[in-house]
Amino acid sequence: MAAPDPADGVFALAERRLLRTDPLLPGPRPDAPHCGTPLGVGHEASAAAGRCEHWAAEPGSLDLSWGAARRFQLSAAIAGPDVAAGLGQLLTQWRDHLAALQGTGDEGTAAIVTWPSRDADGVLTLLRHGFDPLEVLAARVAPRRRTAQPPTSQPPTSQPPISQLRPGTPDGSLRVRRARPRDADVLARLALELIRFDSRFGAINERPDTLAALRREADGLLAGPQPWAWLAERDGEPVGLLAAQRPEAAHWIAPMVRMAPAAYLMLMFVHPAERGGGTGGRLVSEFHRVADAAGVAVTLLHYEQLNPFSVPFWSRHGYRPLWTTWQATPASAIG
Ligand SMILES: CC(C)(COP(=O)(O)OP(=O)(O)OC[C@H]1O[C@@H](n2cnc3c(N)ncnc32)[C@H](O)[C@@H]1OP(=O)(O)O)[C@@H](O)C(=O)NCCC(=O)NCCS
Repeated sequence: MAAPDPADGVFALAERRLLRTDPLLPGPRPDAPHCGTPLGVGHEASAAAGRCEHWAAEPGSLDLSWGAARRFQLSAAIAGPDVAAGLGQLLTQWRDHLAALQGTGDEGTAAIVTWPSRDADGVLTLLRHGFDPLEVLAARVAPRRRTAQPPTSQPPTSQPPISQLRPGTPDGSLRVRRARPRDADVLARLALELIRFDSRFGAINERPDTLAALRREADGLLAGPQPWAWLAERDGEPVGLLAAQRPEAAHWIAPMVRMAPAAYLMLMFVHPAERGGGTGGRLVSEFHRVADAAGVAVTLLHYEQLNPFSVPFWSRHGYRPLWTTWQATPASAIG
């Protein structure tokens, strides 16, 4: 029988602390891949432990467009109560671990800490160690799964009737319809525009084979009956896209959230000339209507923290930050 890993105890203590901050955070994942180097500082209630995963994208894969080609990813558990001190010591130890590895100063590498967004006591420490908060994994709990809200003296905000949000509702010549397998080229082209737009914000990169990888992804997303992908068309021309993974395909991201089943909104883009007119809102409302009806408990998506359209748009549609991805490039750049 394998000896118990002392880090497991710290991860369990950290989970208890974090659940008080954010009930959507999942429990520790003892099966998560890691390099095996023990990372840990302090003891008992002031202990911090970490696991480092060394990850490399498959050549030609879409993963290469979503971030660095080689990623060193720290899962950090801080038992508390001094989160900043525990995290600071752990990051220093991790920096030494990365410095001893080959190639961590190379272009295309990144050191990544995925940190609970509401665990605000770690933020200054991450900044001081040279990390930038580039991406957010945001969550929206389905309305029927939300706990009862405390009574409020404010009247509820008025919402447009659902009939106005359904696809096909007359809105000039705008139409929202479900995408079909033969739309794969259109879907890939709109998704490429999304990657080009989001590459302004530090984490995402267009690569020479991004379009080919998106085309393969589009085939997968559009396979099978009733794909969770919609196009907005103006005068028959595609001007917007939303594509999502059903829970069966979202198993890779589901362990990041306590509720299940989870679906993942993968791609969302509205042509610049169409923005601000409600097209994005109609696409999202349709996705939520279908996902809620299918019994999805929580929908997840990534957005770029510095994309000025993302934060207000997703917040307006019920999403709030769950995890923030902090990144330093190259991986050896940690302070
Ligand atoms: C995010 C995005 C999909 C939203 O699409 P959209 O069609 O503009 O969405 P809507 O019109 O429904 O809502 C946009 C909001 O911005 C406001 N807005 C006003 N003028 C705007 C303008 N010129 N451009 C964008 N938004 C504007 C809208 O009024 C609306 O605010 P509200 O929700 O408070 O009413 C779109 O901006 C986009 O494609 N951005 C670039 C790619 C991107 O950020 N994708 C999401 C990645 S996670």
